[in-house]
Amino acid sequence: MAEQWQPWHDERALRCISCGRCFPLRAILYRCPACGDLLDVVYPRPTEAIERLKARWRWRRLSDRPIDRSGVWRFRELLPFYDDERQLVAYPEGNTPLLEAPRSAAYAGVHRLRFKHLGFNPTGSFKDYGMAAGVTQARILGMRAVACASTGNTSASMAAYAARAGLTAIVLVPENGVSFAKLSQSLDYGALTLQVRGDFDAAQTLLQKIAPELGIYILNSVNPFRLEGQKSVMAELLEQCHWRAPDRIVVPGGNLGNSGSYGKALRELDDLGLLSKRPRITIVQARGAAPLYNAFSSGHPETLVRVHARTLATAIKIGAPVSWKKARRAVDWSDGWVTSVDEQDIADAKAVVGADGIGCEPASATTLAAIRRLVAEGTDERVDPDEDIVAILTGNMLKDADYTLRYHSAELYEEFTTETKVVAKGTRLESHFANPPIVVDATAEALTRAITERLGR
Ligand code: F0G
Repeated sequence: MAEQWQPWHDERALRCISCGRCFPLRAILYRCPACGDLLDVVYPRPTEAIERLKARWRWRRLSDRPIDRSGVWRFRELLPFYDDERQLVAYPEGNTPLLEAPRSAAYAGVHRLRFKHLGFNPTGSFKDYGMAAGVTQARILGMRAVACASTGNTSASMAAYAARAGLTAIVLVPENGVSFAKLSQSLDYGALTLQVRGDFDAAQTLLQKIAPELGIYILNSVNPFRLEGQKSVMAELLEQCHWRAPDRIVVPGGNLGNSGSYGKALRELDDLGLLSKRPRITIVQARGAAPLYNAFSSGHPETLVRVHARTLATAIKIGAPVSWKKARRAVDWSDGWVTSVDEQDIADAKAVVGADGIGCEPASATTLAAIRRLVAEGTDERVDPDEDIVAILTGNMLKDADYTLRYHSAELYEEFTTETKVVAKGTRLESHFANPPIVVDATAEALTRAITERLGR
């Protein structure tokens, strides 16, 4: 597959990733009408001299225009599917930091580890990169309403971007399956928020069924324009690395659109001569929601068997990921791998990312847990401690404060719900790095005692 993957096309179009048939760019399509597979946005190869492009991308950071300040539209030569710059929707988003993480590196057993933290976006997750492009396309198409099924971050982002662009937002979230913070975002941004009595996979299937008739535009990652926006993360990262590509990029996988978009981005950047090497895309799934990992580890990466997803990392609690073929293409092309981590490892890794002063949501912490496991075990794939690794943190720590508080209070159970109703608790996870809050009397002595204990005197 790797060598057959042609990144460019002589005109702008939607192209099926399987049969290669092309459709007009303005068609409202999420899948190939001929064979039912996913679509890519394709276009002619940019012709400008690469050094000029690099200089312009840097220079735009000094501009005051939102589209120049946006981490998506700063690289607009890599997303050439619009005719008029005035159509572009920019919050602005992106330009997220690349952070050194020495404690996390030591925990994983590698010499150096950097986190690209996409939680520094306007709504706190990587989805904002995608929504800039997706909502732009909705406007170009003249859509009045946009919709998504979501585990919480897509919905928060779409709700905000729709509000900014004057569109109606319709959000489907699994009842009880979304963190309070994410749910509250979509309410505050004014989206019609439907709590579906079912899981994410059911909501996603239902939306695809009803959307065409209702004339609403789907902004899940099945929408190829959204993935074009998420591609920019790779351009931004490489620029931050002075165009010296890391050996490995580790990314959490849920619906598998994000990892797929990184594959497309790197494929294009490679063809433009902007990659010094192919970074191995390493996708991490939570063990209870790992259909792609199951497919790879069973030796049948061409067949995906859906699972009933279970994980406290609710962002990636997905059993039938829509974009898995794009993710597989990315892994194949980059000689990467897919792995999985268990709940205990995710919980501890999240606390270690926090101890680096960085913080992230549980789904993002799968990356650190995976690196540690692949260094220590190296059973399915071995990570060398000297590798130059960048892990992608997809969401802000405050997205799931409930989980964090429970961990540090040694109250994190494998089953819990943010609803007030009582549910049967699962196994309690160990809080190996707990930093619980301490209640003290309102006296100088009590405070002094507690503080000197921490100072070790
Ligand atoms: N990390 C976070 C924080 C997420 O919210 C998601 C997906 C992922 C990783 C996985 O990305 O789906 O492209 O493989 N969240 C979606 C949502 C499903 O609805 O917010 P993916």
